[in-house]
Amino acid sequence: LLRRKDLTEDVRADLQTILEATERVRKIVKGLLDFSRQTRLDREQMDVNRLISTTLSLMENQALLKGVQLVFKPGGDLPMVNMDRTQFQSVLLNLLINALDASEPGDSITVSTSNGLVTNEAGQQGIEISITDTGCGIPPEHLNKLFDPFFTTKEVGHGTGLGLSVSLGIVQRHGGTIRVSSEVGKGSTFTIWVPLEGRVR
Ligand SMILES: Nc1ncnc2c1ncn2[C@@H]1O[C@H](COP(=O)(O)OP(=O)(O)O)[C@@H](O)[C@H]1O
Ligand SMILES: [Mg+2]
Repeated sequence: LLRRKDLTEDVRADLQTILEATERVRKIVKGLLDFSRQTRLDREQMDVNRLISTTLSLMENQALLKGVQLVFKPGGDLPMVNMDRTQFQSVLLNLLINALDASEPGDSITVSTSNGLVTNEAGQQGIEISITDTGCGIPPEHLNKLFDPFFTTKEVGHGTGLGLSVSLGIVQRHGGTIRVSSEVGKGSTFTIWVPLEGRVR
């Protein structure tokens, strides 16, 4: 498309931006396989709301192209958390790309973070990130296979079935969990909980 001679400079510039952003996302996701083999976490003190904003901006062009709205609802009073930035961003990108794949034009994807702390059943303090889409939803019989390596419903060449299993591995290495709720035809919510444990005080 970029090679066409009949494009205005504006259109050409927009196409170039889309191409670059798409390439950047592709590289980050491709790097996932390497991260999954790397057991060591390179933690740093992180503002999770800021990381989400940055990650959403990487997805903006793709969402726009598909006619899907991206919404961010940052919770207040979110403490800094000690996490591996690169690995955690891969988790977010994976869940966002899955949500986008499940969406059609007119759908929306909403990312929200908890207001301050969320305590789990074991009494550990942490924070929560939810990614909700209004897409196709997940049939109940698939729910317990989602995180299995190589489970995919996408056509050959479109899905590896590794995204969720790698993402769960990364979250678990941070001491966290991912839970899913979904209804066919209505959409899905993936909720990540990560403990504050190990954060820099
Ligand atoms: N937000 C979502 N909405 C609907 N289905 C989903 C969603 N996220 C994941 N899935 C289902 O889970 C499967 C596995 O996801 P994943 O491990 O990321 O592999 P892949 O995206 O390569 O198929 C997908 O093929 C899809 O069927
Ligand atoms: Mg995926």
